[in-house]
Amino acid sequence: MVRGIPKSVLEMLSAVPLFSACTKSELRAIAGLGTQISVAGGTVLTTQGEPGREFFLISSGDAVCTVDGTEIARLGIGDFFGEMALVEGRPRNATVTAEHQMEILVLSVPEFRSLLDSSPAIAEKIRMAVTSRGHASPAAQID
Ligand code: CMP
Repeated sequence: MVRGIPKSVLEMLSAVPLFSACTKSELRAIAGLGTQISVAGGTVLTTQGEPGREFFLISSGDAVCTVDGTEIARLGIGDFFGEMALVEGRPRNATVTAEHQMEILVLSVPEFRSLLDSSPAIAEKIRMAVTSRGHASPAAQID
């Protein structure tokens, strides 16, 4: 144990690409955030055009991301989604649906803010995802 957080949990978190640049003390702050949930295949996790109030990190399983019914990306273990609506203050720009059963860490808006505040490296990775994913929308690819 390291200050109440099992070493195995810190190791597991450091293997997540989003957290790979974090220090041990940053990982300790992150370990207490969010709620782990299990969802069945077919569960719609975000709906294009609707408001977004959660951020998601995939612990296991995979999901498909669609815009206007067209698949634009697949998301798997260690990937995150739901950041765009929270960062940009806009409706969800895509629908994300579980392919099979998934385990997901769900963060509320205050928890997401704490995550951004916990590490400049995380804030930067999330900002980069918002930019690159925004450019990857079907409309942007046609231009
Ligand atoms: P948000 O708009 O909040 O909800 C839908 C999510 O789908 C979005 O945040 C991103 O996390 C994710 N998303 C949108 N476009 C892409 C993309 N091109 N590649 C991967 N994920 C995406």
